[in-house]
Amino acid sequence: MSKLKILITGSNGLLGQKLVYGLRNNEQVELVATARGENRVFEKTGYAYESMDLTDAEKVKSVLEKHRPDCIIHTAAMTNVDACELDPAACELQNVTAVKNLLAGCKSFAPHFIDISTDFVFNGEAGPYSEEDEVDPLSVYARSKVEAEKLVMNSGLKWAILRTMIIYGVTDDVQRSNVIIWTKNSIEQGKEITVITDQFRGPTLAEDLADACIQAALRKAEGIFHVSGREVMPIIDISLMVAEFFGLDKSFIKPITTSSLNQPAKRPLKTGFIISKAERELGYKPHSLKEGIAIIEEQMRTRGRM
Ligand SMILES: NC(=O)c1ccc[n+]([C@@H]2O[C@H](COP(=O)([O-])OP(=O)(O)OC[C@H]3O[C@@H](n4cnc5c(N)ncnc54)[C@H](OP(=O)(O)O)[C@@H]3O)[C@@H](O)[C@H]2O)c1
Repeated sequence: MSKLKILITGSNGLLGQKLVYGLRNNEQVELVATARGENRVFEKTGYAYESMDLTDAEKVKSVLEKHRPDCIIHTAAMTNVDACELDPAACELQNVTAVKNLLAGCKSFAPHFIDISTDFVFNGEAGPYSEEDEVDPLSVYARSKVEAEKLVMNSGLKWAILRTMIIYGVTDDVQRSNVIIWTKNSIEQGKEITVITDQFRGPTLAEDLADACIQAALRKAEGIFHVSGREVMPIIDISLMVAEFFGLDKSFIKPITTSSLNQPAKRPLKTGFIISKAERELGYKPHSLKEGIAIIEEQMRTRGRM
């Protein structure tokens, strides 16, 4: 049986790195990882690497034509929500033009296209959300992701869109922070942190999301899938659970509401996903947050970051 050739974008990112590790030794798969600039994944064997800035249409076309993948998993994006709000042109370029370039570059071989999107497509008034719920984006970032979704849906390709939220995990290179690492490090350094009480999310272990992407590719899944952790909770509860897990003093965690934070980009208050479709059709089985924290702890320890 011939191997499924999968090309991933953004392989230096959090999800991208997990996909490289999840796929590089998979015997059913031939992997092409692509990212901006140098390959920052420590392990360099078991896959091909191409430097590919998605805003460079000619480069995208030539890399895609060279490899002609059966499947593209598009993880790259400008993911800093406030930076997108402050620089809408950059956001449009990274999150929308990039998708146009990818779609234009694969006209002649029609791969299965898997796009990664976000809970921020919803307004947060009625979570947890199912795949059938209407989108209503509140920010520049969220609108760019909705626009990208529409491009993919109307591309004429076979497509899947995996929406996710609040991904946590440990990367190979620079320590990319997330709510778990930030909470732990801050309290250990004796710093008080303010954490939001009125935004509800289902934190998602990066490895779980990568597994869902891999299953979507292998099963040639089509349609929208909601992929997140199962437990939906106020963000402050994530920090409290981290403190509990590591035996840290919870009094360093101070509550704050969204309105008093004054962030440039508006956030949906209560998202959370109904994940039964992903469980049914992708065999998705997310870890609990407690299990996820234990996995992070183990990864940080073995990499000498604790
Ligand atoms: N993180 C979350 O909590 C979250 C929540 C909901 C949805 N999502 C979605 O999930 C996906 C993966 O997120 P993530 O957390 O893995 O993101 P990430 O760690 O921020 O990685 C994104 C990657 O995209 C790359 N990138 C940006 N513009 C590019 C371009 N023009 N050409 C090539 N690469 C480019 C970045 O490259 P550099 O490293 O060179 O900057 C970065 O490595 C994204 O689509 C995001 O919108 C994330």
